[in-house]
Amino acid sequence: MKVLSAEFLLSAVSAEHYPRHPMPEVAFAGRSNVGKSSLINTLLLHKGLAKTSSTPGKTQAINFFVINQRCMLVDLPGYGYAKVPQHVKASWGKMIETYLQQRAWLRAVVHIVDVRHEPTPLDQQLRDWLLHYGIEIVTVATKADKLKRSQRAKQVSTVRRVLEMAPEEPLYLFSSLNREGRQPLWSRLDELLLP
Ligand code: GTP
Ligand code: MG
Repeated sequence: MKVLSAEFLLSAVSAEHYPRHPMPEVAFAGRSNVGKSSLINTLLLHKGLAKTSSTPGKTQAINFFVINQRCMLVDLPGYGYAKVPQHVKASWGKMIETYLQQRAWLRAVVHIVDVRHEPTPLDQQLRDWLLHYGIEIVTVATKADKLKRSQRAKQVSTVRRVLEMAPEEPLYLFSSLNREGRQPLWSRLDELLLP
């Protein structure tokens, strides 16, 4: 998609505040600090549109961005950050689950993992949940710039194995630092977002 305009629309913690205007949307989910907000900025070539931080737990609400006034990208709070108090974790979990259950226009969830690490039980849980509800999953392994070329194949196969991905399911390698993987990911998102 050629991004002609990209705007922050609103931030919501509960369903009554979600945008009502019907537009196809794709949401971005993954562990805290994995690089969800950075990935959105890289897709949009718009540094700072989605707020990022080196401290986990930056995105604490559901943020909606409108692209070309015709579709939405949705930045979800991260999960799995140990230092977040239990009651906050529970409320974020609920927030994400409510969102995923309620959005009729949700075309897919981009599940982002860090290519350097084994996906965690929470990653597996999210994936199981998406599969259970029949929500299309686009799996992205980001921070590819942090790996040596020689480590890539091994890390990619670890991610695929732990997430139990079928051989034909694509895994998109990505880097927000050098924009590797941006075009292939956009091609897939175009298929999902454009009629
Ligand atoms: P929460 O909102 O806290 O859940 O985090 P997030 O998943 O939105 O992560 P965010 O985009 O804020 O990035 C977290 C940190 O990782 C920041 O310091 C980013 O600069 C860094 N980062 C994100 N993507 C990449 C990448 O592809 N390569 C490298 N080297 N660093 C990255
Ligand atoms: Mg974020």
